[in-house]
Amino acid sequence: MAKKKLQGEVFYPPKEVIENAHIKDWDKLNKQANTDYAKFWSDRAEELHWFKKWDRVIDDRKKPFYKWFTGAKTNISYNCLDVHVQTHRRNKIALVWEGENGDFEAMSYFRLHRETCKFANILKSMGVEKGDRVTIYMGRIPEIMIAMLACARIGAIHSVVYGGFSVEALHERIEDSKSKVLIVADGAYQRGKIVPLKQIADEALQRAGGIEHVIVVKRTGQEINMEFGRDMWYHELRELPIASNQCALEKMDSEDPLFILYTSGTTGKPKAILHTHGGYMVGTYTTLKYVFDIQEQDRYWCAADPGWITGHSYIVYGPLLNGATSFMYEGAPNYPYPNRWWKMIENYGINILYTAPTAIRGLMRFGEAWVKRHDLSSLRLLGSVGEPINPEAWKWYHSVVGNGNCPIMDTWWQTETGMFMITPMPCVPLKPGSGTKPFPGIEMDVVDEKGKPVKPNEEGYLVIKTPWPAMIRTIYGDDERYVTQYWRKYKGMYMTGDSARKDKDGYFWVIGRVDDVIKVSGYRLGTAEIESALVSHSAVAEAAAIGVPHEVKGNAIYAYVILRAGLTGNSTLVEELRQHVAHEVGPIAKPEQIEFVDSLPKTRSGKIMRRVLKAKAMGEDPGNLSTLED
Ligand code: WT7
Repeated sequence: MAKKKLQGEVFYPPKEVIENAHIKDWDKLNKQANTDYAKFWSDRAEELHWFKKWDRVIDDRKKPFYKWFTGAKTNISYNCLDVHVQTHRRNKIALVWEGENGDFEAMSYFRLHRETCKFANILKSMGVEKGDRVTIYMGRIPEIMIAMLACARIGAIHSVVYGGFSVEALHERIEDSKSKVLIVADGAYQRGKIVPLKQIADEALQRAGGIEHVIVVKRTGQEINMEFGRDMWYHELRELPIASNQCALEKMDSEDPLFILYTSGTTGKPKAILHTHGGYMVGTYTTLKYVFDIQEQDRYWCAADPGWITGHSYIVYGPLLNGATSFMYEGAPNYPYPNRWWKMIENYGINILYTAPTAIRGLMRFGEAWVKRHDLSSLRLLGSVGEPINPEAWKWYHSVVGNGNCPIMDTWWQTETGMFMITPMPCVPLKPGSGTKPFPGIEMDVVDEKGKPVKPNEEGYLVIKTPWPAMIRTIYGDDERYVTQYWRKYKGMYMTGDSARKDKDGYFWVIGRVDDVIKVSGYRLGTAEIESALVSHSAVAEAAAIGVPHEVKGNAIYAYVILRAGLTGNSTLVEELRQHVAHEVGPIAKPEQIEFVDSLPKTRSGKIMRRVLKAKAMGEDPGNLSTLED
């Protein structure tokens, strides 16, 4: 088949990488999948274990409340563990872990299964039943994986809150989910210091009701408060007779909830994105297998945090469904020195590295000598996620880290999509800064205000036109918001909230968010959360947060603050407000800059005109001000 010549700068994958890959001919797979996507996904589903097969692959009778594999019975935790324990993978290493302080752990599928059962029995002994919510708040330690798998095993819905979030963020999420159990670590190591997770949780629990039991995992060992009758040590619980290493599992309906994960939206409080057992399992399993080309001997490292969707899908579920060996690292990339990551890649013989542009840019700043000290020849594939990767960072990653031999899988997706949506595979020619094309079986497009496809290279709204198995099912407890948020603007199309271009070769170039979401170091934050944290400070009357371009973080937060009458701003107050946001939302939400102003530009309907604020922050012309009230 004669291939059309691609426009622009193109990197072709090395022959050796394609030769052994699961998918060698992307076009062929794409054609098959697009001809009958229901069949494509059900064929993939056949590779997994079902206690009972489905009646329908996809049920779209109540659009946009799509259902997948209806009538089927399965359990994702069973597919992650029990299935492998019954095969040659029984003693295969599932997880290799290194603590920031040098601690080490290697856990086989056999042991991970037993640990999961023990944890599940502990949860059961606390009265946790199918459908109950359990909040998990920990750092990157093996127990976070065990806790998630334990919930899934007994049908409890986990709600993981990222360990970088703080008091109010945690409080809000515990309360909204109505969790009755909280699993927390005493602390987490981060850049040589301890993040006092349990102490933060104690403060959050003073604001939130509903939590009956707190399971505390000992990681850092500092003195903490244990509330009698509520808080219990995990290492003590697991010695009790109730914590047997065998635990009957729940046979789940394909559409039974697996987890909720809070993410920032356009306005108001974070949304609880709901994912289910069956479709999510098929989606994460297939995409990881094909995109990162998981092979039996691979050592795969997704450097994200389990507290975000990347970690849920591609540290916990995807790799285990594939029977892979994963690596997890607790701490900061440059601790104690900027070669920490490269040293671990060399030591553990990592074959696949999946990280975010911000991490690459951060490490790039230290210079390539830190990389070149290490033999990184084990690497075969690299990955990027979270925000657009600038071509300069792409090329550094490709040539310095990958030595020119490792294709970069730039994967575009969202908490809501659950799985990769726009992504290359190892056999696909790459253009730096483009995630190439939608995954086979998925149709996406770039459209104008009215939903009409725009011309090649024109900017427009990124939409998804076909349902996919790991898609969001609803916003937990708020079906109406689910519909308005994603499906109202365009009939029959899912609105991503991103803007993009599509070039003449059909390659997608994602530009960024078009709503009030700010991506800071790849983390998704809502302006509303930052603003309400600022306003909760006694000195603040009103606040507006925007994102401004930042060399390493992609975007940094810039906040405008109106003080209460009679108060004047100074540098001490700026610092106090920054600390206040860090304490309420988390260090990642700390504004880079705070400017005190007397008024904020608003439309006649009272909406803050962020475009004007952005222009001001960047010293640019604000453009058309005709809708401005004042
Ligand atoms: C938003 C979703 C899904 C994992 C992490 C983020 C941006 C994500 C890319 C990419 C350009 C990207 C989008 C998207 N984004 N990946 N490869 N290229 N932009 O999940 O926190 O739900 O954020 O991240 O703006 O809408 P999330």
